[in-house]
Amino acid sequence: MIKIKKISDFNLNSKKVLVRLDLNVPFNNNKILDNSRIKASLPTLKEIIKKKGIPVIISHFGRPNGKVNKRFSLKKILKSLSKQLGEKIIFCNQCIGLKVKKILENAKPAQVFLLENLRFHKEETKNNNKFAKDLSKYCDIYINDAFSASHRKHSSIVKITKFIPSGMGKNMENEINNLNKYLKKPKKPITAIVGGSKMNNKINLINSLINKCKYLILGGGVANTFLKSKNLNIGRSIYEKKQIRNVIKIQNKAKKNNCKIILPLDVVISEKNKHLDISKINKNHQILDLGKNTLNVIFEIINNSSTVIWSGPVGYFEKKPYDNGTNKIATLINSKKKLISIAGGGDTISALKKNKKINNISYLSTGGGAFLHWLENFTLPGIEALKK
Ligand code: 3PG
Ligand code: MG
Repeated sequence: MIKIKKISDFNLNSKKVLVRLDLNVPFNNNKILDNSRIKASLPTLKEIIKKKGIPVIISHFGRPNGKVNKRFSLKKILKSLSKQLGEKIIFCNQCIGLKVKKILENAKPAQVFLLENLRFHKEETKNNNKFAKDLSKYCDIYINDAFSASHRKHSSIVKITKFIPSGMGKNMENEINNLNKYLKKPKKPITAIVGGSKMNNKINLINSLINKCKYLILGGGVANTFLKSKNLNIGRSIYEKKQIRNVIKIQNKAKKNNCKIILPLDVVISEKNKHLDISKINKNHQILDLGKNTLNVIFEIINNSSTVIWSGPVGYFEKKPYDNGTNKIATLINSKKKLISIAGGGDTISALKKNKKINNISYLSTGGGAFLHWLENFTLPGIEALKK
């Protein structure tokens, strides 16, 4: 087996260490809703500072689609990161080019730098060779500590490892160890809960869960796509049209594999927060949470499971009362001491922490999509790139 280098394998003294973090924290109304991803980044940064290296932090933030957009500036995270790290951080409003060169030229050991959002360049998400080379140009070592973004074949995750000596950070190591511990040989029966609003790729990930789980509970936009594929009316609710054919295939495969897919039977809609049977939805309605009957079915399933894997809130949890389903599921999972429970993703952690329902969760992963993706082959593109 090819070993991945750790921070401790490098001499960091006076070295500029390009650290890929995932600072894509849940953010609303100019406020960080959950700082787990920032917290998870601190041990690596502290270690580099302790060893007299110079951390040069890179990250994405949101999806600005290759264009400079102030709304997605990493400057918004600067203050919080600096406060939690307990160090001054020098911000550069570029991530490649002469400005970066200049700012890093006279950098002193233990100074910390944060470069602007990688996704202001369209090349980043294309795993572009030249962009990766430009990123690496003024640094000596590359450390990937962004487990939660390592399912993306992007320049700063994959291609970059071609250009400078590379290794993994402490959060990456911690994620791999914990996920291996609980999920390589999981206790059966296994139930997976998949929700959230981001749908692209999730449908494919669901495909792989079918081989592993007895029950697959769906909420959010993913569930809506399944409901739509059964010709049910979902009104104005979000769903993914181009995945309908895939979803039909997945349902057939689930039947063959004895995996039961649980879809909403009743829901809460935007109009007067009314509870409705799924068959009663009309074209003006928008599905925002699971209904009571569906929740009862889910509780019964959780009560009979040995392992629960959870990624993505089951409703529009940012807004009351549509956080009810997510909160109730969180409360039940957290009350079960013998249950192995692994939850992942910025929004899922945020939902769990909001009500302090985490003391009995076996492991909270910083990865949402990454965590589901990891389950497919127990690795990620960003982890594989470090092996080369
Ligand atoms: C996440 O929030 O899941 C990661 O930061 C990756 O973000 P992305 O889905 O926009 O690639
Ligand atoms: Mg996210």
